[in-house]
Amino acid sequence: MSKFANKLFDAYIESYNRDSERFLQFRRAVADVYDTPEIQGLIRFPQHGKINRFDHITSVSYLAWIAALKLGVDPVATGRAAVMHDLVYYDWHENDWSHRPHGYRHPGFAVKNAKALTTISKREENAIYRHMWPLTPISPRYAEGWILTLSDKYCAHMEMKYKHSEEYRKKFAALTGIEGMNV
Ligand SMILES: [Fe+2]
Ligand SMILES: [Fe+2]
Repeated sequence: MSKFANKLFDAYIESYNRDSERFLQFRRAVADVYDTPEIQGLIRFPQHGKINRFDHITSVSYLAWIAALKLGVDPVATGRAAVMHDLVYYDWHENDWSHRPHGYRHPGFAVKNAKALTTISKREENAIYRHMWPLTPISPRYAEGWILTLSDKYCAHMEMKYKHSEEYRKKFAALTGIEGMNV
């Protein structure tokens, strides 16, 4: 792996080791949304494979916050948008046409739920609304949104790898101490 890929993977793993100094710094930066029952409660919904939605948004927002810091983009806005990017209160695997097709419709639901939870800026709103690009054809307008959409894709990829690779599950367990995530 390249140096960049290694750092990315280390940060991804760190998103499951939630007592590191850097993680606590992230958590303080986005606490107004991250520490709410709406976000914490996302643990009850599966996201990709065996990973639940709370763990997914934690990884995505942690990576997005780090990337924003490194790139000189507003880390709090990027982190907050990422925390709320999948803020929907249903299991998207259910065959329920009130929320299907999920891939296209959930960004709009997430914006609505984010606005019910807190005040969001137009940059945060655009980041949440456009995060499914290129499935939804209009790309993010601002740097915060580009960071979010790329971070989301990286994490989704790792989460699918967890589902499909026994070898990777062993490596993940060795690095995080977490075994057999079974949601
Ligand atoms: Fe999403
Ligand atoms: Fe996501």
